[in-house]
This record gives sequence, structure tokens and C-alpha cells, in this order.
Amino acid sequence: MKDNTKLIAAGRPHGRRAHPVNPPVERASTILFPTYDDYLEGAKSITYGRLGTSSHRALEEAVTALEGGFETRLACSGLQACNIAILSFVSAGDHILMTDSAYDPTRKFCENFLRRFGVETTFYDPLATKDEVTELMRPNTKVIFAESPGSLTFEVQDIPALAEAAHENGAVLLVDNTWGAGYFYKPISLGADVSIQAATKYLSGHSDCLVGTITSADEKSARKIYYGLLQLGSNVSADDAYLTLRGMRTLASRLKSHQENGLALAKWLSKRSEVDRILHPAIKGCPGHATWKRDFTGASGLFSVVLKPVPLPALKMFFNTLKLFAIGFSWGGYESLCLHTAPEKHRTATKWDEQGHVLRFHAGLEDIGDLQNDLENAFTAMAMRLE
Ligand SMILES: Cc1ncc(COP(=O)(O)O)c(C=O)c1O
Repeated sequence: MKDNTKLIAAGRPHGRRAHPVNPPVERASTILFPTYDDYLEGAKSITYGRLGTSSHRALEEAVTALEGGFETRLACSGLQACNIAILSFVSAGDHILMTDSAYDPTRKFCENFLRRFGVETTFYDPLATKDEVTELMRPNTKVIFAESPGSLTFEVQDIPALAEAAHENGAVLLVDNTWGAGYFYKPISLGADVSIQAATKYLSGHSDCLVGTITSADEKSARKIYYGLLQLGSNVSADDAYLTLRGMRTLASRLKSHQENGLALAKWLSKRSEVDRILHPAIKGCPGHATWKRDFTGASGLFSVVLKPVPLPALKMFFNTLKLFAIGFSWGGYESLCLHTAPEKHRTATKWDEQGHVLRFHAGLEDIGDLQNDLENAFTAMAMRLE
């Protein structure tokens, strides 16, 4: 089955009796077993609301089909999915290698929280080769964490090389796969042990719920993730699991439009005199573009641009003139967004020394002409503020 068919068929109710198209929302804490035998049988599947109901199982099944993994488990946010995945593989005294371009709260979890429990983190250049990463490995390195492309600056990582470096040295490779959404990118097929998504973004796709997914490549990793989530008491509401699965039904069509609008905007912006550099994995010259071409089948709608230096009041005028692009932290919904970011604040292994402001754009599903007009008006207002 092709991915666009899997997205329609996976996790659907089935059987001979009449049933709705979508799996119903099954909200529960207590699950009742009519007989002792049912209780024994139930213990193998659905036992207690915290461990998930049929609503959660349906979403897990669909994500596993999309990611091409062994099993998926849900977390209550993308951040929790990243953090519990890491926690499931480390103990006191262990060491982690984390990409310097990781989503900042994931980075902070390692720098602050894990440090208190005796787990050390070294950050590595997202564009590092296998040898460069291998050189940073220690006998106690248990996890290599990658995010491809990276947050804010969109470096595409060499996942097959990182997987080799991890496996040759007894570690696992965990990949934050939120940007590719499991549709344009399959880290497990490239050697990753675990693929993680903030389903808050493209999978749910409507900016109205928070969910994380953790897909394991094999049973050994799946057991660790299962016990990590179980013992930390994580739970996703059945309503959010339902919304995420409903969002996934249209993922293929939405991503196609996000891709088209994202590329059109990036190309349009690249011709603007106000713009210095485009950071979009599918555009030639962007860091890791050749790797994107080799490993991805498409590009989602999130990218950054570096502006030529302008004073802050002019930038404020740009933002305050925008009507369709809203200022917002998340992404992956149907709406366009623009965010002023500061990559230099979130790196230690690499240096960010661009002088201009960095704007992260999310290309939504609006008409491309309307989006370009919105930006044109904002650039005009910015120029008037500069005069
Ligand atoms: C790449 C990436 N990973 C993880 C997360 C965390 O997701 P959530 O907001 O659902 O916790 C985000 C959120 O912006 C993200 O951009």
C-alpha cells in the first residue's frame, strides 16, 4: 500500500457489523471485565485508561503504518515524546550525543534535568560525518539524538551515517521526525531505532491539540519505550488521540499544499532585496540539501530566512503589518505563521554568526498570491520605517 492509502485505511474500525467510519472516542479510566477470563484476556490489550483505549490503539496503528516501525506509543506532547524516549535508554552515569540544532526544550531537558541525574550530554554539529560523531562517542554513550532537519536552521542530518556510528558503539539512534511527518521522511528505514514526532504539528494538523508519537523499529526498543511511558504515568486524552487520527486522514493532501506554498514562498523570498539567505532543505545551497535529496521524498512548509540587518523598530513594523501570517510558536496547522527567532541562543557546538534577524515561516494552505501580497505589504511598511 502507498502512504496516501495507508493514511486512509490504517486504524479504522472493521468487522462484519455496522460501524462508523471513524473509531469512536472511547474515554475511560476504569475498564470493566464481565468475567474472570475476560479479565485475563483484557490484561493483554486494554486494561486501564492510562494505558490507552481503542482510540489510542487506532492512532498508534496508523502512525506505525506510516513510519514503517514495529510499534508506536503516544505521549502527551511532542516534547514529552522526545524526553521519555531519551529517558527510556539512559541510566545514571550514561552519556548522550545530541545535535546542536535540536528543539531547544529537548536540549534543555538534557542540559538541566538529566544532568541532575548524572547523565551527561555532548552537543555535536548537525552536519557532522560518521567519523566526527564516532570521535565524540564514549564507552558510556547510550543515545545519539538527531533532529532532521534541525529546528530554526534546518540542517539536514546524515541519518544512515549516524545509525552506523551508534550501532557500532552499542548506542541507539533517536530521531525527531516532526518536519517530515513520517510522510516525506522515514528515519527507521534509514537505520534509526526510534522515530519521534510532535503530532501536535502536521499529524493533527489543525493547531488544536498536543500529542507526541514514539515509533520503535523493533521489539527491544519498543519494550523500553513502553515501560518508560508506563512508569512515568503519561497519558493522552482520547479526544486528542481521535483528533490526531482524524487529522492524519488528510495529511497527504495537506502536506502537498504546504510543500507547494513553502517552496513558492522560499523562492519568492530569495529574490527579495531584504533577504540575505534562505534556510529551506529543498533549496540548493541550504545546509544538507544533498542529503535531503537523497533521503527525503518531499518538503513540508516550515523554513527560515535570514534578513539583511535592519533595526528592531523596522522589524516590528514588518510584523505588525502582516495580516495573514500570525506570530505563533507552534506550526504544522493549516494557517501561515511567522516567528522572529534567535538561533545563536541555542547552540554550543557550532557558531551562528549571521548578522541579520532570522524569521521562521510556516506556509499554510492559503492562496499563494494572497500570502505574497501580505509579505509585500509588510516589506513596504518596513522600508518606510527605515526611511
Ligand atoms: C521539532 C520539534 N520537536 C518537538 C516539538 C515539541 O512538540 P510539542 O509542542 O507538542 O511539545 C516541537 C514544537 O515546536 C518541535 O518543533
